[in-house]
Amino acid sequence: MSKLVKLSIAVVLLASYIAIYQPHVFTVKYMHDAAAKFPILVSFFKWFHGAKGSNPRSDQVDLKDASPKVDTNRVFTKEELAKYKGEDGADIYIALMGRVFDVTRGRDFYGPGGGYSFFSGVDGSRAFVTGDFKPEGLIDDISGLGSQDYIGLRDWLDFYMKDYQYIGKVEGMYFDSNGEPTAYYHGVQEWIKGASNFKEEEDLFKEKFPMCNVDYKPEEGSRVWCSTKSGGVKRDWVGFPRSLYSADSKNIRCACAQESDLDDPLLKEYPDCPKDATSCMLPK
Ligand code: HEM
Repeated sequence: MSKLVKLSIAVVLLASYIAIYQPHVFTVKYMHDAAAKFPILVSFFKWFHGAKGSNPRSDQVDLKDASPKVDTNRVFTKEELAKYKGEDGADIYIALMGRVFDVTRGRDFYGPGGGYSFFSGVDGSRAFVTGDFKPEGLIDDISGLGSQDYIGLRDWLDFYMKDYQYIGKVEGMYFDSNGEPTAYYHGVQEWIKGASNFKEEEDLFKEKFPMCNVDYKPEEGSRVWCSTKSGGVKRDWVGFPRSLYSADSKNIRCACAQESDLDDPLLKEYPDCPKDATSCMLPK
């Protein structure tokens, strides 16, 4: 097998492993964070996206405070907002969940010909998490999404609040013509709050019952074992491998459990594995 083929197989295996066990790595937010930490990734991603020109943030002055035209109470109609697409050097505005941001200094991204120009002049909230950048996907309605998506939208809003100038609201789903929040706006707040609580609980659960390490050898079968780093959870205890059942018993995975949690009804011992072993062979 040539080195190239071996390398390709290794990349596919690694990507599959990450997709199954660390799916958050493939979320845009994670990629953006990773790109910020490792500039070499940015070059790769720029190539991937076909982004052109320099990074507008690299020579950033604090335009937020310097901007002379900030009227955060302004209420745009959709038609007004649509005028700000950066054509002929005009300003560029985008809206996210009814809030309007001046993204003119990100012209390379949002201006004509930029990799994200489809976001300019509209509220395309839904596409921020679905990645459906066709006109029918670039809509402000974010109902019926998953909790991970609401967390993603919350993070995007934080991003725009921090990195760009907030300049007003757009009349429609989220705000009325006076800029007052609509019932839909309040509903969205609840979805985001619910999703944040759910994630918090999920994170706590993952820390309580981290995943086991797994080894597989064709001649011996699978071995599950615990260590102070298994499941990506760094801790000062090792734990004992147990089958962990979801509340509806539909999903089972190996979890490392501390002595104090061993009575949890969601846990089951592995057959033929001593109670206090930190490593168990699974039945073939
Ligand atoms: C749902 C899909 C996606 C959305 C909604 C999205 C959105 C965006 C937006 C709005 C920006 C501009 C941010 C700014 O104003 O500074 C951006 C930049 C960027 N995106 Fe994405 N993106 C998506 C997918 C991806 C993927 C899959 C990758 C990686 C392969 C990626 C990598 C990047 C990078 C590296 C930049 C910064 C480029 C630079 O600094 O030149 N994005 N993205």
